[in-house]
Amino acid sequence: MLSVRLERPNDFEEWRGKARRLLIAGMKPSQVVWRVGSEESGLFEAGDDMLPNTDGPIGSVPRQFIELAGDVIQHSDPQRFALLYHLLWRLQDDRRILDNAADGVNSLLTRMASGVHRDAHKMKAFVRFRAVHQNGDERYIAWFEPEHFTLESTAPFFTRRFAGMHWGIITPYASALWDKENLHFGPGGSKKDIPTEDAVEDDWRTYYGAIFNPARLKVAMMKSEMPVKYWRNLPEADRIAPLIRNARQMEQDMIARATTQPPARHMRQKARVIEEESQPIQSLADAAVAIDNCRRCPLYEHATQAVFGEGPKAAEVMFVGEQPGDQEDLAGRPFVGPAGQVFDDAIKNAGIDRSRLYVTNAVKHFKFIPRGKRRIHQKPNAGEIQACRFWLNLEREFVKPRIVVALGATAAQSLVGKAVSISRMRGQPIDLADGSVLYITNHPSYLLRIPDPETKARERQKFQEDLALIHTHMQRLEKS
Ligand code: URA
Repeated sequence: MLSVRLERPNDFEEWRGKARRLLIAGMKPSQVVWRVGSEESGLFEAGDDMLPNTDGPIGSVPRQFIELAGDVIQHSDPQRFALLYHLLWRLQDDRRILDNAADGVNSLLTRMASGVHRDAHKMKAFVRFRAVHQNGDERYIAWFEPEHFTLESTAPFFTRRFAGMHWGIITPYASALWDKENLHFGPGGSKKDIPTEDAVEDDWRTYYGAIFNPARLKVAMMKSEMPVKYWRNLPEADRIAPLIRNARQMEQDMIARATTQPPARHMRQKARVIEEESQPIQSLADAAVAIDNCRRCPLYEHATQAVFGEGPKAAEVMFVGEQPGDQEDLAGRPFVGPAGQVFDDAIKNAGIDRSRLYVTNAVKHFKFIPRGKRRIHQKPNAGEIQACRFWLNLEREFVKPRIVVALGATAAQSLVGKAVSISRMRGQPIDLADGSVLYITNHPSYLLRIPDPETKARERQKFQEDLALIHTHMQRLEKS
């Protein structure tokens, strides 16, 4: 048994170098154990110094694997290195494994990659900086306990967002420090290194109290979006219980005040610390940050947040929906609600793996009218679609998909530049000016709304046929 030692728990390049040498040496996955840092080797394990140090050829590795492995390597499961090597080994003979959602290791790794994405998302949402004064300078420091090794990949988000501050994020396994120019990583720390209270806390509490909407209180959903595990590190956590307790009264007060209070957007704007878009947008990640300040149309005023696209940053296929729905607006992610469920089932049936897709919307803010406690979806108008093309165009420019799929009339209008008929345009690839190919099909929520079971079954069938065409095109691209 060969013991392969990695110095760092989440360094993809380090793992890749060793995996490459293992492949060249013809070492089967069953002959290898992976160890990290000072973890002890077993009694009968040989060290990896006997591996060839050459850079000999190995079969080409699909880009999709590299993206998946870059995420999975950050997972906390100790089996991650072995699972990745197992998949890499099999890919040498069969590149199609990555398209096989039923393959056990492939689907396990895809789930692990999603867990890593969720963890990074939580870090972005729940890091709370505290102000510390040092030699007359103000520094900000935060304690965060990620589930996985996600600090290194997530810290650049904070450098863009808080570019003008000296800040540090300390986790149990590593720390990140930003000195307004460079990002440095160092060892982990402990919660007691962080001051417990400061002036910024009050701002968080005020902000939280101001954005709390008693009419939309859903305790279970709130706990899943803001897991209780993070509450202990959130300054605003002590406001949550009283706010929930008083929600009914607050709701009644809100209704009573409704005619005299200033528009909600003024209150929200006041409470929100708005960072103006100060940097040019040079990457997809820059765009994902800048969109938080989008004022290109009035939809930002009432939506909870802009919902940017998600998926591999060089995905070959981009699916474009209409706009986030109620659940997407709360979660900040596209296609996670009921339409997302229909979408997931249909692409799975067609053999398309969502983790390979970049999924986004033509319009990034939820448009709705309030009705009682519900928010009823409204179709975006031509002006809103046009205003938001700026963001969709940026996504297309950075991701450079070779296939673009318009789900529904709004997406088709945004991509073609004018209103089009889906029934006439579906089923045929359309060449776009940037060299990509557009497919137009129905929106999954259209299928959800059809009352007549026969029509519904027929439309679902047509939808599946469109997806099958897209899948065939994807397979052709892979072979070319
Ligand atoms: N409908 C869309 O068009 N996009 C979503 O993200 C959700 C529902």
